[in-house]
Amino acid sequence: MKMIDLKLITDENKEECLLLRPQKFQERFVASNANSLKKAEQEPTSRPYGIYAENVMVGFALFDEELYPDDGYFWICRFMIDERYQRKGYGRAALGEILRKMKSHPTCTKIRISHVPDNSVVNHLYKQFGFVETGEEIDGETVLDLMV
Ligand SMILES: CC(C)(COP(=O)(O)OP(=O)(O)OC[C@H]1O[C@@H](n2cnc3c(N)ncnc32)[C@H](O)[C@@H]1OP(=O)(O)O)[C@@H](O)C(=O)NCCC(=O)NCCS
Repeated sequence: MKMIDLKLITDENKEECLLLRPQKFQERFVASNANSLKKAEQEPTSRPYGIYAENVMVGFALFDEELYPDDGYFWICRFMIDERYQRKGYGRAALGEILRKMKSHPTCTKIRISHVPDNSVVNHLYKQFGFVETGEEIDGETVLDLMV
């Protein structure tokens, strides 16, 4: 598996994060990183991370590091790999690392994620990590859970 690191987004690497984009056809699958950084400020349980490969930021993730109080889940809110770095194994490696980090929190017993219904690539990837579709839809998105 590819080696990646997760590093918190700070004033030092924020600009690099804002430059990352998915492919054009994927823009409806994930909010812009500008929007995600705003959400990070509004949601105190979640923290924004750059996904790094050999010291280059190749992607971005926003996920809970505390229980989301409304439902008792740890949510992965945003997850993307920049168009230049896709299909190199970074997405899979990053998801593995995100889950490892989330599971290390003692209160993390349930991880939740959602995606646009026809995003079949990410649906397949999430299921490979043990996520199961719940049958629920939230804001028009397919919901998957991973019991820890
Ligand atoms: C989903 C995403 C993070 C995957 O990142 P990635 O670095 O390309 O993924 P990987 O290289 O680790 O590949 C993971 C799997 O997805 C498959 N895959 C990735 N991109 C694909 C594509 N465009 N078409 C078909 N399969 C694709 C790979 O073949 C691999 O599957 P396999 O191991 O079964 O062959 C990336 O495509 C992305 O950022 N998409 C836009 C944002 C998005 O949809 N985020 C999810 C929001 S819920």
